[in-house]
Amino acid sequence: MKNSYSNIFTFNKKILSKTIKSLKNGGVIGLPTETVYGLGGNAYSKKAVKKIFKLKGRPKFNPLIIHYYNIKDAQKDVVSNKYFEKLYKSFCPGPITFVLKRKNTSKISHQACANLRTIAVRFPKNKTTRDILRKIDFPLAMPSANKSSGVSPVNSKDVFDEFKKKLKIIIDGGKCKIGIESTVIDLTSDPKILRPGVLDKKVIENSLKIKIKTHRKKNKILSPGMMKKHYSPGIPVMINQKTHDGKSAFIYIGNKYKNKKNFFSLSKKNNLFLAASNLYKIFRIIKKKGYKKIQINKIPNYGAGIAINDRINRASKF
Ligand code: TXA
Ligand code: MG
Repeated sequence: MKNSYSNIFTFNKKILSKTIKSLKNGGVIGLPTETVYGLGGNAYSKKAVKKIFKLKGRPKFNPLIIHYYNIKDAQKDVVSNKYFEKLYKSFCPGPITFVLKRKNTSKISHQACANLRTIAVRFPKNKTTRDILRKIDFPLAMPSANKSSGVSPVNSKDVFDEFKKKLKIIIDGGKCKIGIESTVIDLTSDPKILRPGVLDKKVIENSLKIKIKTHRKKNKILSPGMMKKHYSPGIPVMINQKTHDGKSAFIYIGNKYKNKKNFFSLSKKNNLFLAASNLYKIFRIIKKKGYKKIQINKIPNYGAGIAINDRINRASKF
């Protein structure tokens, strides 16, 4: 398909074989997932992984998530356990990432995992990306397709805005349904949530029939996505704001300020899943409109609201 972006493609057979060829040669591609768009490359290839870190400007100590078609493929690289198998059955393919012990025989690039003895594995749900994963004989290292510490892309054009022509192929998969990154759960010992997502702790607890912890240790970076400053739209973000200052963009949930200039609702119907899915899109709209600051009203802290609060909290650490 032709569009005004010469490197954004609609998925079809021709682009599938072009994508596979590029990935086999160590290329890096912009790919849709159900959460956010990713920058995918062969996780076995030093060259591809190096390229990903360079494109993102990502610190070397921040490991990448490795994406697989199914659990059988992932079990070549990680030590499986009962929690992993249960959560896989309940939620995969889907928006959850599992941190597991690395097998000694694994061929995953050590740089991709920041030289840790663990690997974060995920099974994305998007059909296009699954078609690709099914056809290749290596997994994909795939961080969100944004510059380090910025906002994740939820549209193919957002990926273009981040990397312009530095990517030869960006595959268009429309707007990401979930719109916020996957839940990351450490399963190397007692399950711990490292990064909240729309698949929240309660749902995971119900599936595992145990209580789980949220990582709260202050000084130790267990998951570098837990770095304080992250998800930043590039302008100051103020959270828990009660009143509008008259000039900033004001983000809230509901329809109280319907059609009022400077007010942006994450979900008119107070739906926290929709609110999460609109957060990054609205950050980008506000930035493009030239606002100098974002104020955010208090967001309920349950369900998908926990993930929203995690992201806006970090976005506010400017
Ligand atoms: O939804 C998602 O997970 C998206 C899509 C593209 O799949 N990917 C994504 O990747 O958000 P990234 O690189 O932006 O975030 C990966 C997170 C980071 O917080 C990283 O520190 C953590 O996963 N992570 C990766 N490997 C890890 C490991 N071995 N141990 C602990 N945390 C790990
Ligand atoms: Mg990211």
